[in-house]
Amino acid sequence: MRRAFMSDPWRCFLASRFSASFIKGDQQLSETSRAVFITGTDTGIGKTHVACTLLHALRAAGQLACGMKPVASGCVETPEGLRNDDALALQAASSRHLPYSEINPVALRAPLSPHLAAACEQVTISLPPLRMAFERLSSEHRAVVVEGVGGWLVPLAPGLLASEIARQWQLPVILVVGLRLGCLNHALLSARAIVADGCRLIGWIGNTIEPAMDALEENLATLRALLPAPCLGVLPHGLPPMLAAPQLSAAVATLG
Ligand SMILES: Nc1ncnc2c1ncn2[C@@H]1O[C@H](COP(=O)(O)OP(=O)(O)OP(=O)(O)O)[C@@H](O)[C@H]1O
Ligand SMILES: [Mg+2]
Repeated sequence: MRRAFMSDPWRCFLASRFSASFIKGDQQLSETSRAVFITGTDTGIGKTHVACTLLHALRAAGQLACGMKPVASGCVETPEGLRNDDALALQAASSRHLPYSEINPVALRAPLSPHLAAACEQVTISLPPLRMAFERLSSEHRAVVVEGVGGWLVPLAPGLLASEIARQWQLPVILVVGLRLGCLNHALLSARAIVADGCRLIGWIGNTIEPAMDALEENLATLRALLPAPCLGVLPHGLPPMLAAPQLSAAVATLG
């Protein structure tokens, strides 16, 4: 319907002159906003750490940037409502203070896979409300860093996997590789699945999750040789996101 209303040449013409929030296409987001989906080789391997580091790197490059955790399980009850550590970290690393519910629209109590936590709480997770929250952030920020949940194929609801967020919103994907034994297999499987799902894997970031991994450099060389996308940085162990930010200059450049 929209295509009949406004042809692509017209959309391009207007995009070059006005804020793109006036001319969103069916799947298209703000022309002036960049968004990226952060997935990982597993749960607990540093997606939030990398997302916060990337937010600091984007801000250091002068960009208005914010984080988003569309779905979070394992939230804790607070006087203000359910809160999740990842979403709080993304909130704190964003350029401006945003209401918690904008950053984390679906907050679940049980520390389980989202589809199980949602079933416990009789919540049905669907993408349209998440998309609305995302579009609002996109319209107000130059960059939105969206953290996935667990790994690429985590179930959100019957018939809905977390990967659908990136696929349906057409977000470029960065794969965080938690550098530990087993990461080569996890990284290659994840990359294969991302590409098979028709998503654009724009790069990977190595996260030194362990203080001393055996054959770290050899593992990094193997990842560089075998993954079908460039390395956009390697974060050292124990450096907080603000200090590690310079390591992600290649990621910032790739996002444009
Ligand atoms: N480079 C690092 N150096 C030291 N500690 C790290 C590093 N990266 C992550 N951690 C720690 O490892 C733990 C897991 O990291 P993080 O929460 O970023 O993982 P995640 O992939 O986002 O997990 P989840 O699947 O729960 O979202 C956290 O305690 C974090 O502080
Ligand atoms: Mg996390």
